[in-house]
Amino acid sequence: MTTPPTLEAYRQDLWARLDQAITTPGAPFQTLALATTFDGQPEARLLVLRALDQQARRLTHYADRRSAKIAQLEAQPRVCWLGWDPGAQLQLRLYGSARLHLDDDRAREAWDSMPASSRLHYSGPHAAGTPIDDPAQAAFAAYGTHENPESAAWARNFALIDTEVDAIDLLHLDRAGHRRAHYQWDGTSWQARWVVP
Ligand SMILES: Cc1cc2nc3c(=O)[nH]c(=O)nc-3n(C[C@H](O)[C@H](O)[C@H](O)COP(=O)(O)O)c2cc1C
Repeated sequence: MTTPPTLEAYRQDLWARLDQAITTPGAPFQTLALATTFDGQPEARLLVLRALDQQARRLTHYADRRSAKIAQLEAQPRVCWLGWDPGAQLQLRLYGSARLHLDDDRAREAWDSMPASSRLHYSGPHAAGTPIDDPAQAAFAAYGTHENPESAAWARNFALIDTEVDAIDLLHLDRAGHRRAHYQWDGTSWQARWVVP
């Protein structure tokens, strides 16, 4: 990163990096860790960033509806997304509220535009985290069977997670001096300030 000098430049650079993560496999922010709390218990896991709308301050991720995180998000929608870009030496934390789309138009549109090979990820017989005796019991449906009638059932396993971001914390490690920037959405615009790294 060529040390952006201003808070605004850091913020623009961040959205550009997130945008790049959608289109560039292996980009550092392609996977972000989703941190949640549920019943007093913290949890974190990686998800692939699928879409971004800077204007709406919205991140979009996909998940299996049967996974524990979906029930957790229904109960407690406040989330933090964590990322690390080693090349830029940039730690990212995005705070916001998650909104689940299950079987609605937005979920169906995403499902319809998903490659068949990706739909197979929703064909597993059991919810993530279910105890099994053998890993083979968790196998997805075979490739090439995606036209079979079960794909309608798989669609019901699909969840789309939108996060409306309302705060951003950036830490840039730099030999010339670390920098940390905090941004808070006030309902109209981003309020930005430097904070001690
Ligand atoms: C690199 C990587 C990418 C992943 N991407 C996703 C994803 O996009 N959606 C998802 O639901 N799980 C994804 N996972 C699996 C989750 O990290 C997690 O193990 C799973 O969703 C179950 O989480 P839960 O029990 O907290 O619901 C990914 C895991 C890795 C290692």
